Amino acid sequence: MQKILVLNGPNLNLLGTRQPEVYGTTTLKMVEDMCAAHGQSLGLQVSHLQSNHEGVLIDAIHAARGVHDGIVLNAGAFTHTSVALMDAIASAEVPVVEVHLSNIHAREAFRHHSYIAPVAIGQICGFGALGYKMALDALAVHLSEGDGS
Ligand code: DQA
Repeated sequence: MQKILVLNGPNLNLLGTRQPEVYGTTTLKMVEDMCAAHGQSLGLQVSHLQSNHEGVLIDAIHAARGVHDGIVLNAGAFTHTSVALMDAIASAEVPVVEVHLSNIHAREAFRHHSYIAPVAIGQICGFGALGYKMALDALAVHLSEGDGS
């Protein structure tokens, strides 16, 4: 069974109560349970980590090398600031799908740039919690080396 890490960054532990008008009312636990169930239906074993600390996220990306077959990453605000996360992904040789609950391109200008996007296989944003499922679908196709058609 292929292994996927769902990695969530800063403030995403507050999902459900944090600015629900922007991020919805789905909690992180609900997202994690949904990913586990959806992963199972795709034949993927999903594990989870959330951290508010950049170094912990970097360590998790390093540790994924040779252990996980793919990463679904919502790096939160580090998306827009972290060259270190970008470098970690570029070094890890594990395919990453970037996810955001909100449509970062329709928000403040500082959210339009992503340091993750150039090193991810793709970016999904604006679909709320559904984006995590879409990311798992995309990884499943990517890992089966098909083009989805
Ligand atoms: C986010 C978007 C980021 O700009 C923001 O800092 C977050 C959440 C999202 O999921 O929409 O923390 O990554």
